[in-house]
Amino acid sequence: MVLDVNAVRGILPRGGTILGSSRTNPMAESNTVDGKTGIERVKENLDSLGVDALVAIGGEDTLGVASRLNYAGGKVVGVPKTIDNDLGATDFTFGFDTAVNIAMEAIDRLHTTAESHHRALIVEVMGRHAGWIALHAGLAGGANVILIPERPFDMDKVCAWVEHRFQTRYAPIVVVAEGAHPLNEDLALTTGQLDSFGHVRLGGIGQLLADEIEKRTGKEARCTVLGHIQRGGTPTAFDRVLATRFGLHAVGAVHDEAFGTMVALRGTDIVRVPLTEATRELKLVPPERYAEAEVFFG
Ligand code: F6P
Repeated sequence: MVLDVNAVRGILPRGGTILGSSRTNPMAESNTVDGKTGIERVKENLDSLGVDALVAIGGEDTLGVASRLNYAGGKVVGVPKTIDNDLGATDFTFGFDTAVNIAMEAIDRLHTTAESHHRALIVEVMGRHAGWIALHAGLAGGANVILIPERPFDMDKVCAWVEHRFQTRYAPIVVVAEGAHPLNEDLALTTGQLDSFGHVRLGGIGQLLADEIEKRTGKEARCTVLGHIQRGGTPTAFDRVLATRFGLHAVGAVHDEAFGTMVALRGTDIVRVPLTEATRELKLVPPERYAEAEVFFG
Protein backbone atom coordinates (compact mmCIF):
# COMPACT_ATOMS: atom_id res chain seq x y z
CA MET A 1 0.00 0.00 0.00
CA VAL A 2 1.51 3.32 -1.03
CA LEU A 3 1.18 5.65 1.94
CA ASP A 4 0.74 8.94 0.15
CA VAL A 5 -1.31 11.85 1.47
CA ASN A 6 -4.53 10.50 -0.05
CA ALA A 7 -4.09 7.14 1.69
CA VAL A 8 -3.83 8.72 5.11
CA ARG A 9 -6.45 11.47 4.75
CA GLY A 10 -9.19 11.12 7.34
CA ILE A 11 -7.31 8.87 9.76
CA LEU A 12 -6.75 11.55 12.43
CA PRO A 13 -9.83 10.57 14.48
CA ARG A 14 -9.09 6.86 14.18
CA GLY A 15 -7.16 4.82 16.70
CA GLY A 16 -5.21 1.68 15.85
CA THR A 17 -3.84 0.88 12.44
CA ILE A 18 -5.04 1.14 8.85
CA LEU A 19 -2.40 -1.43 7.82
CA GLY A 20 -3.63 -4.17 10.12
CA SER A 21 -0.17 -4.54 11.61
CA SER A 22 0.59 -5.58 15.18
CA ARG A 23 3.76 -6.28 17.05
CA THR A 24 5.48 -9.55 16.28
CA ASN A 25 8.98 -10.76 17.03
CA PRO A 26 11.16 -11.38 13.95
CA MET A 27 13.95 -12.32 16.34
CA ALA A 28 12.02 -15.32 17.62
CA GLU A 29 13.43 -18.73 16.73
CA SER A 30 10.19 -19.64 14.97
CA ASN A 31 10.74 -16.85 12.44
CA THR A 32 13.91 -18.41 11.04
CA VAL A 33 12.85 -19.97 7.72
CA ASP A 34 15.17 -21.85 5.35
CA GLY A 35 18.15 -20.76 7.42
CA LYS A 36 17.22 -17.07 7.20
CA THR A 37 16.51 -15.19 10.42
CA GLY A 38 13.41 -13.07 10.77
CA ILE A 39 15.53 -9.90 10.61
CA GLU A 40 17.11 -11.06 7.34
CA ARG A 41 13.70 -11.85 5.91
CA VAL A 42 12.36 -8.41 6.88
CA LYS A 43 15.34 -6.78 5.16
CA GLU A 44 14.82 -8.87 2.04
CA ASN A 45 11.15 -7.92 1.89
CA LEU A 46 11.92 -4.22 2.25
CA ASP A 47 14.56 -4.41 -0.48
CA SER A 48 12.39 -6.37 -2.89
CA LEU A 49 9.50 -3.90 -2.41
CA GLY A 50 11.80 -0.94 -2.97
CA VAL A 51 10.99 0.54 0.42
CA ASP A 52 13.26 3.56 1.07
CA ALA A 53 12.98 3.41 4.82
CA LEU A 54 10.94 1.80 7.56
CA VAL A 55 9.20 4.04 10.08
CA ALA A 56 8.61 1.75 13.05
CA ILE A 57 5.80 2.97 15.29
CA GLY A 58 5.47 1.28 18.65
CA GLY A 59 6.75 0.62 22.12
CA GLU A 60 9.73 -1.20 23.60
CA ASP A 61 9.13 -4.40 21.63
CA THR A 62 8.60 -2.81 18.21
CA LEU A 63 11.39 -0.30 18.69
CA GLY A 64 13.68 -3.00 20.11
CA VAL A 65 13.22 -4.89 16.84
CA ALA A 66 13.69 -1.62 14.92
CA SER A 67 16.97 -1.07 16.72
CA ARG A 68 18.18 -4.58 15.83
CA LEU A 69 17.10 -4.09 12.23
CA ASN A 70 19.05 -0.84 12.09
CA TYR A 71 22.08 -2.62 13.53
CA ALA A 72 21.73 -5.21 10.76
CA GLY A 73 21.87 -2.43 8.14
CA GLY A 74 18.15 -1.65 7.79
CA LYS A 75 17.12 1.98 7.27
CA VAL A 76 14.88 2.60 10.24
CA VAL A 77 13.42 5.60 12.06
CA GLY A 78 11.37 5.06 15.22
CA VAL A 79 8.22 6.76 16.50
CA PRO A 80 7.26 6.25 20.17
CA LYS A 81 3.70 4.95 20.45
CA THR A 82 2.40 3.03 23.42
CA ILE A 83 -0.32 3.59 25.97
CA ASP A 84 2.21 2.53 28.63
CA ASN A 85 4.37 5.71 28.29
CA ASP A 86 7.32 3.62 29.42
CA LEU A 87 9.87 4.47 26.73
CA GLY A 88 13.02 6.25 27.83
CA ALA A 89 14.27 9.30 25.94
CA THR A 90 10.83 10.83 25.34
CA ASP A 91 8.64 12.75 27.76
CA PHE A 92 5.49 11.21 26.27
CA THR A 93 4.53 8.46 23.86
CA PHE A 94 1.35 8.90 21.85
CA GLY A 95 -1.58 6.75 22.92
CA PHE A 96 -0.91 7.39 26.58
CA ASP A 97 -3.05 10.50 26.89
CA THR A 98 -6.00 8.76 25.21
CA ALA A 99 -5.73 5.74 27.53
CA VAL A 100 -5.53 8.01 30.58
CA ASN A 101 -8.60 9.95 29.51
CA ILE A 102 -10.59 6.77 28.92
CA ALA A 103 -9.58 5.44 32.35
CA MET A 104 -10.37 8.79 33.97
CA GLU A 105 -13.83 8.85 32.44
CA ALA A 106 -14.43 5.29 33.66
CA ILE A 107 -13.42 6.32 37.18
CA ASP A 108 -15.73 9.36 37.00
CA ARG A 109 -18.60 7.06 36.08
CA LEU A 110 -17.77 4.55 38.81
CA HIS A 111 -18.10 7.27 41.46
CA THR A 112 -21.88 7.08 40.98
CA THR A 113 -22.21 3.46 42.10
CA ALA A 114 -19.44 3.68 44.68
CA GLU A 115 -21.29 6.54 46.39
CA SER A 116 -24.87 5.30 46.05
CA HIS A 117 -24.20 1.65 46.91
CA HIS A 118 -21.41 2.23 49.45
CA ARG A 119 -19.08 -0.15 47.72
CA ALA A 120 -15.34 -0.18 47.25
CA LEU A 121 -14.70 -0.18 43.52
CA ILE A 122 -11.43 -1.43 42.14
CA VAL A 123 -10.36 -0.32 38.65
CA GLU A 124 -7.65 -2.38 36.96
CA VAL A 125 -5.80 -0.49 34.24
CA MET A 126 -3.06 -1.51 31.79
CA GLY A 127 0.51 -0.26 31.61
CA ARG A 128 2.47 -3.49 31.86
CA HIS A 129 5.42 -2.94 34.24
CA ALA A 130 4.98 0.82 34.49
CA GLY A 131 2.41 2.64 36.61
CA TRP A 132 1.94 5.72 34.42
CA ILE A 133 -1.65 5.07 33.35
CA ALA A 134 -2.69 4.23 36.91
CA LEU A 135 -0.91 7.27 38.32
CA HIS A 136 -2.35 9.79 35.88
CA ALA A 137 -5.86 8.33 35.66
CA GLY A 138 -5.99 7.86 39.43
CA LEU A 139 -4.93 11.44 40.15
CA ALA A 140 -7.26 12.85 37.50
CA GLY A 141 -10.17 10.72 38.74
CA GLY A 142 -9.70 11.41 42.46
CA ALA A 143 -8.88 7.82 43.39
CA ASN A 144 -8.74 6.72 47.00
CA VAL A 145 -5.55 4.74 46.43
CA ILE A 146 -3.32 4.20 43.38
CA LEU A 147 -1.27 1.00 43.20
CA ILE A 148 1.59 0.72 40.74
CA PRO A 149 4.15 -1.97 39.86
CA GLU A 150 7.04 0.24 40.96
CA ARG A 151 5.86 0.12 44.60
CA PRO A 152 4.68 -3.24 46.03
CA PHE A 153 1.72 -2.53 48.27
CA ASP A 154 0.73 -3.47 51.79
CA MET A 155 -2.76 -4.99 51.80
CA ASP A 156 -3.44 -3.85 55.39
CA LYS A 157 -2.66 -0.26 54.46
CA VAL A 158 -4.89 -0.43 51.39
CA CYS A 159 -7.77 -1.71 53.56
CA ALA A 160 -7.17 1.05 56.12
CA TRP A 161 -7.35 3.70 53.34
CA VAL A 162 -10.56 2.15 52.01
CA GLU A 163 -12.12 2.12 55.52
CA HIS A 164 -11.15 5.75 55.94
CA ARG A 165 -12.88 6.71 52.70
CA PHE A 166 -16.05 4.97 53.82
CA GLN A 167 -15.96 7.07 57.01
CA THR A 168 -15.56 10.30 55.07
CA ARG A 169 -18.46 9.25 52.81
CA TYR A 170 -16.44 9.75 49.64
CA ALA A 171 -16.24 6.92 47.13
CA PRO A 172 -13.42 4.46 47.80
CA ILE A 173 -12.09 3.88 44.32
CA VAL A 174 -8.85 1.95 44.11
CA VAL A 175 -6.93 2.25 40.84
CA VAL A 176 -4.56 -0.66 40.35
CA ALA A 177 -2.10 -1.14 37.50
CA GLU A 178 -2.19 -4.63 36.01
CA GLY A 179 1.48 -5.08 36.97
CA ALA A 180 1.07 -4.01 40.61
CA HIS A 181 1.74 -6.62 43.21
CA PRO A 182 1.44 -6.94 46.97
CA LEU A 183 4.40 -7.09 49.33
CA ASN A 184 3.30 -10.63 50.10
CA GLU A 185 4.23 -12.24 46.77
CA ASP A 186 1.95 -15.21 47.45
CA LEU A 187 -0.94 -13.00 46.44
CA ALA A 188 0.58 -11.96 43.08
CA LEU A 189 -1.19 -13.03 39.92
CA THR A 190 -0.39 -13.53 36.26
CA THR A 191 -2.17 -15.64 33.70
CA GLY A 192 1.07 -17.57 33.14
CA GLN A 193 0.79 -17.05 29.36
CA LEU A 194 3.68 -15.52 27.42
CA ASP A 195 3.58 -13.39 24.27
CA SER A 196 6.07 -13.68 21.37
CA PHE A 197 8.50 -11.40 23.20
CA GLY A 198 8.37 -13.63 26.28
CA HIS A 199 6.35 -11.14 28.36
CA VAL A 200 3.87 -12.61 30.81
CA ARG A 201 0.29 -11.67 30.10
CA LEU A 202 -0.76 -9.61 33.10
CA GLY A 203 -4.19 -9.36 34.64
CA GLY A 204 -6.21 -10.42 37.63
CA ILE A 205 -4.77 -8.25 40.38
CA GLY A 206 -7.96 -6.16 40.51
CA GLN A 207 -10.20 -9.10 41.36
CA LEU A 208 -7.72 -10.37 43.90
CA LEU A 209 -7.73 -6.97 45.59
CA ALA A 210 -11.51 -6.80 45.57
CA ASP A 211 -11.73 -10.23 47.23
CA GLU A 212 -9.18 -9.30 49.89
CA ILE A 213 -10.76 -5.90 50.62
CA GLU A 214 -14.19 -7.50 50.97
CA LYS A 215 -12.82 -10.24 53.23
CA ARG A 216 -10.86 -7.87 55.45
CA THR A 217 -13.24 -4.88 55.68
CA GLY A 218 -16.59 -6.64 55.41
CA LYS A 219 -17.62 -4.04 52.80
CA GLU A 220 -18.77 -5.04 49.35
CA ALA A 221 -15.95 -4.63 46.83
CA ARG A 222 -16.22 -5.02 43.04
CA CYS A 223 -13.64 -4.99 40.31
CA THR A 224 -13.80 -3.39 36.85
CA VAL A 225 -11.09 -4.38 34.36
CA LEU A 226 -10.78 -1.76 31.61
CA GLY A 227 -8.58 -3.93 29.38
CA HIS A 228 -8.45 -3.11 25.68
CA ILE A 229 -11.09 -0.40 26.01
CA GLN A 230 -8.13 1.81 26.98
CA ARG A 231 -6.43 1.08 23.67
CA GLY A 232 -9.25 1.82 21.30
CA GLY A 233 -11.49 4.44 19.85
CA THR A 234 -10.85 8.02 19.00
CA PRO A 235 -7.60 9.65 20.19
CA THR A 236 -7.46 12.82 22.28
CA ALA A 237 -6.38 16.13 20.76
CA PHE A 238 -3.04 15.85 22.60
CA ASP A 239 -2.33 12.47 21.00
CA ARG A 240 -3.42 13.62 17.54
CA VAL A 241 -1.13 16.63 17.68
CA LEU A 242 1.76 14.60 19.08
CA ALA A 243 1.34 11.82 16.49
CA THR A 244 1.12 14.35 13.66
CA ARG A 245 4.27 16.15 14.83
CA PHE A 246 6.11 12.85 15.34
CA GLY A 247 5.09 11.77 11.83
CA LEU A 248 6.28 15.00 10.28
CA HIS A 249 9.63 14.81 12.06
CA ALA A 250 10.06 11.10 11.25
CA VAL A 251 9.72 11.88 7.54
CA GLY A 252 12.25 14.68 8.07
CA ALA A 253 14.63 12.18 9.67
CA VAL A 254 14.22 9.81 6.69
CA HIS A 255 14.99 12.67 4.27
CA ASP A 256 18.11 13.49 6.30
CA GLU A 257 19.02 9.78 6.36
CA ALA A 258 19.16 9.96 10.15
CA PHE A 259 18.57 6.21 10.41
CA GLY A 260 18.76 4.48 13.78
CA THR A 261 17.09 7.42 15.49
CA MET A 262 13.72 7.89 17.15
CA VAL A 263 11.75 11.11 17.23
CA ALA A 264 11.08 12.14 20.81
CA LEU A 265 9.24 14.81 22.77
CA ARG A 266 11.41 16.90 25.11
CA GLY A 267 9.34 19.59 26.74
CA THR A 268 7.49 20.96 23.74
CA ASP A 269 10.23 20.22 21.21
CA ILE A 270 10.53 17.20 18.93
CA VAL A 271 14.11 15.97 18.87
CA ARG A 272 15.98 12.96 17.45
CA VAL A 273 17.51 10.43 19.86
CA PRO A 274 19.36 7.17 19.16
CA LEU A 275 16.95 4.21 19.03
CA THR A 276 19.24 2.38 21.43
CA GLU A 277 18.78 5.12 24.02
CA ALA A 278 15.00 4.86 23.77
CA THR A 279 14.95 1.12 24.36
CA ARG A 280 17.82 0.74 26.83
CA GLU A 281 15.62 0.70 29.90
CA LEU A 282 11.97 1.18 30.79
CA LYS A 283 10.90 4.60 31.99
CA LEU A 284 9.22 3.87 35.30
CA VAL A 285 7.34 6.14 37.71
CA PRO A 286 9.98 7.78 39.92
CA PRO A 287 9.40 7.62 43.71
CA GLU A 288 8.93 11.40 43.94
CA ARG A 289 6.08 11.32 41.43
CA TYR A 290 4.36 8.56 43.39
CA ALA A 291 4.92 10.50 46.63
CA GLU A 292 2.88 13.38 45.16
CA ALA A 293 -0.06 11.04 44.63
CA GLU A 294 0.30 9.44 48.06
CA VAL A 295 -0.59 12.75 49.71
CA PHE A 296 -4.20 12.13 48.61
CA PHE A 297 -4.54 8.44 49.64
CA GLY A 298 -7.14 7.50 52.23
O1 F6P B 1 1.99 -2.45 25.83
C1 F6P B 1 0.67 -2.05 25.68
C2 F6P B 1 -0.24 -3.00 26.37
O2 F6P B 1 -1.57 -2.57 26.16
C3 F6P B 1 0.04 -3.20 27.85
O3 F6P B 1 -0.45 -2.16 28.65
C4 F6P B 1 -0.63 -4.53 28.07
O4 F6P B 1 -0.05 -5.25 29.16
C5 F6P B 1 -0.35 -5.25 26.81
O5 F6P B 1 -0.13 -4.29 25.81
C6 F6P B 1 -1.48 -6.16 26.39
O6 F6P B 1 -1.12 -6.77 25.22
P1 F6P B 1 -2.04 -7.87 24.54
O7 F6P B 1 -3.28 -7.20 24.08
O8 F6P B 1 -1.20 -8.36 23.41
O9 F6P B 1 -2.30 -8.90 25.59
